[in-house]
Amino acid sequence: MSPQTLFIVLASLVLCNGYYTEESLYKTKNAQHYYPVHNGRLIRTKHEHFGLITRANRAIPLSSRPRGTVSVDDFGAKADGRDDSQAFGKAWNEACSRGAILVVPENRIYRLKPITFSGPCQPNTAFMLYGTIEAWTQMSAYQEDRLHWIMFDSVTNFRVGGGGTFNGNGKKWWQNSCKANTDLPCKDEPRPKAVTFFQCNNLKVTNLRFKDAQQMHVSFEKCFNVIVSNVVIRAPGDSPNTDGIHVAETQNIAIRNSDIGTGDDCISIISGSQNVRATDITCGPGHGISIGSLGADNSEAEVSNVVVNRATLIGTTNGVRIKTWQGGSGYARNIKFLNIAMQNVTNPIIIDQYYCDRAEPCQEQDSGVQLSNVLYQNIRGTSASEVAIKFDCSRTVPCRQIYVQDVILEPQGSGGTIATCQNVRYVNRGKFFPQCTH
Ligand SMILES: *[C@@H]1O[C@H](CO)[C@@H](O)[C@H](O)[C@H]1NC(C)=O
Repeated sequence: MSPQTLFIVLASLVLCNGYYTEESLYKTKNAQHYYPVHNGRLIRTKHEHFGLITRANRAIPLSSRPRGTVSVDDFGAKADGRDDSQAFGKAWNEACSRGAILVVPENRIYRLKPITFSGPCQPNTAFMLYGTIEAWTQMSAYQEDRLHWIMFDSVTNFRVGGGGTFNGNGKKWWQNSCKANTDLPCKDEPRPKAVTFFQCNNLKVTNLRFKDAQQMHVSFEKCFNVIVSNVVIRAPGDSPNTDGIHVAETQNIAIRNSDIGTGDDCISIISGSQNVRATDITCGPGHGISIGSLGADNSEAEVSNVVVNRATLIGTTNGVRIKTWQGGSGYARNIKFLNIAMQNVTNPIIIDQYYCDRAEPCQEQDSGVQLSNVLYQNIRGTSASEVAIKFDCSRTVPCRQIYVQDVILEPQGSGGTIATCQNVRYVNRGKFFPQCTH
């Protein structure tokens, strides 16, 4: 038994006994180190102390294991460049009604038009993607629903995995976007999200690649109890609105050990989301890890219990960001950003309560989303711009209970860094550099 294996075994013993350790300090550059794979199985070395998530995804009793496999090829999928949607639809209906594993064979590239895989299914239905699924590129195929390419709707006790790739083939969509050649805010034509999970419960999305989404890569909407792990997401840094993982109105979601580089937020968390935990995330290029935007068009926002732990951000425009519009109401609270390494990040720490992504300027308003109880702990690295820390809080609802502990952000090149802090009440412990200049 190698020392590493021994460590893993010990760690899993500790895990099984329910021992809970405080989050350790950030130690490595490479998030992979935290999750060694043993006999092809991912070993958790950390206790994810996270309510229902672990319970919901415990080993499935034998009696309810999936019943058999269903290959899309047996239903006529050809992977020859033509549309395989019909075969996938039939294979899904079979797998879903039996609680079987739908298999998409490896070393083959299937093309799909927009398609919805609907539940409810028999429990433990799975979708194992070993090969590649590419999006149909002709836009006319998306006329009925311009917002979705692949959707999993109302599926419970469901897992998607296999190591294969969802390729959104988004280039044509990006070129048509009004953001393509300019940073100016604009109103875009709707573009499809690559993969959407809608109203899914007890969901596991593991060991997959997503690339070149038409818009966002993976979106969780109104889901409950979700684990996302070992996911790689890639799109060019200048591809518009290609968020990596989007979390909306979703509760109890753990995103782990994933590597995301896109043209927008690596992870974006918006209203209605609660108990969101992102651990061991590598991000870049991209716009960083964002909560928001919240409160657009005077809407009410509610986000709480978010933990981002052990992230590495490389060359991103933002590091950890909270953004809200003027107007709006509600709150974002109980948020922790822990053990984060920043490398040449333009706005490493930013709260922007005057967010405005429109052509016409946004007027200051006398309401806003209340931000409170936000912890920044052990955040180190370099800032590409002078303003390494920006707390631009609302004048009408100042930020409360902002805790800064052991935060050190040096300039990437020569020069210095500063912090700008408006309408914020903060407490600092340990190191805090650069400090607020008023
Ligand atoms: C740092 O980031 C800036 C702005 O994004 C970029 O111009 C510069 O080349 C980067 N420097 C390094 C050393 O990566």
